[in-house]
Amino acid sequence: MATVNDNYLKLKAGYLFPEIARRVNAFIEANPEAQVIRLGIGDVTEPLPQACRDAMIKAVEDMGDRSSFKGYGPEQGYAWLREKIAAHDFQARGCDIDASEIFISDGSKCDCGNILDIFGDDNIIAVTDPVYPVYVDTNVMAGHTGDINEKGEYEGLVYLPVTAENNFTAEIPTQKVDLIYLCFPNNPTGATATKEHLKAWVDYARANGSIIFFDAAYEAFITDPSLPHSIYEIEGAKECAIEFRSFSKNAGFTGTRCALTVVPKNLIGKSKDGSNVELWKLWNRRQSTKFNGVSYIVQRGAEAVYSEEGQAQTKALISFYLENAKIIREKLTEAGLAVYGGENAPYVWVKTSAGLTSWDFFDKLLQTCNVVGTPGSGFGAAGEGYFRISAFNSRDNVNEAMRRILDKFK
Ligand code: MLT
Repeated sequence: MATVNDNYLKLKAGYLFPEIARRVNAFIEANPEAQVIRLGIGDVTEPLPQACRDAMIKAVEDMGDRSSFKGYGPEQGYAWLREKIAAHDFQARGCDIDASEIFISDGSKCDCGNILDIFGDDNIIAVTDPVYPVYVDTNVMAGHTGDINEKGEYEGLVYLPVTAENNFTAEIPTQKVDLIYLCFPNNPTGATATKEHLKAWVDYARANGSIIFFDAAYEAFITDPSLPHSIYEIEGAKECAIEFRSFSKNAGFTGTRCALTVVPKNLIGKSKDGSNVELWKLWNRRQSTKFNGVSYIVQRGAEAVYSEEGQAQTKALISFYLENAKIIREKLTEAGLAVYGGENAPYVWVKTSAGLTSWDFFDKLLQTCNVVGTPGSGFGAAGEGYFRISAFNSRDNVNEAMRRILDKFK
């Protein structure tokens, strides 16, 4: 009989968000009249920007005409999109990133997992705790960890706790690690990183030959002008960091799918025989072998984000969700809860009340307010006692959810 990848058997039963959906569906089945408001998964709710829709409609027309029809595109993405990204997202912020270092993909979640294909199995890996579960689970699947212990931590991973006590800022490890996952603005805590904090990581990575996986999926939510949007704003980061970005949260592409990964050309790793290998070459090889690129239509939609109208429309979308986050922060504070994040991020991180565990708080909110959030412990052991509320919803739903919470908690 064929054998399976036993590493999958080490994983906690379900991925966090499907597990939440399962519990919510069971609740709705038992309480069909309940008007449940979902502020759990960070999925956008507002329509695609008009500029993106127009560009995609035009692209569909291109596909209907032999002279403008497109078959397979470049696996790395079309040059016209990569050039706009390089100019707007990086060069305009002083980052020396070339279009050829940008790889277009169908999502940051996939890229964060797929990137492990080009790294060895003997790296020491550090994650913050709490953390976006994909970073941990993909390493478990790849066999980079041992079993899960009773604390909910996988043997072999280095966990860097981020809690209110350290102001949600992980300490730079004292031991040597090879791969480090950082996410700013942070999912789930909504915390941001200053240039000084990122510089400390870049200095550490360069001194130790480590690679930083920098997840900037939420960079568009940064309103504080002093905060960096890209790790490449830090000197030396091109020698030690891969950055992931997405159109999901800034332009509402969660269902449309488009993202990008930056692999600088001078980034190197070591092969078993001790020689230096350019990571760009390996990622390029990986993508051209296992991926056929994002559809032409979707890339045209993403390109429209960089037009004048696209910029104005995406800014308006982000401001809308940030206003939701502000309302959530204010109302939860009024309800007597301690809140963090939500100022330069679409996530509000809440301390659960009266010593409730994260899942107790989840049940209480679901049962008494019919509001869904995400239990902090689902993001890691140090998330226990916290709860994440997503600002991705309509204004009416956010207002109604907060009204119910104030009613029950105040
Ligand atoms: C979340 O809720 O954390 C997001 O949905 C993560 C993601 O974009 O995959």
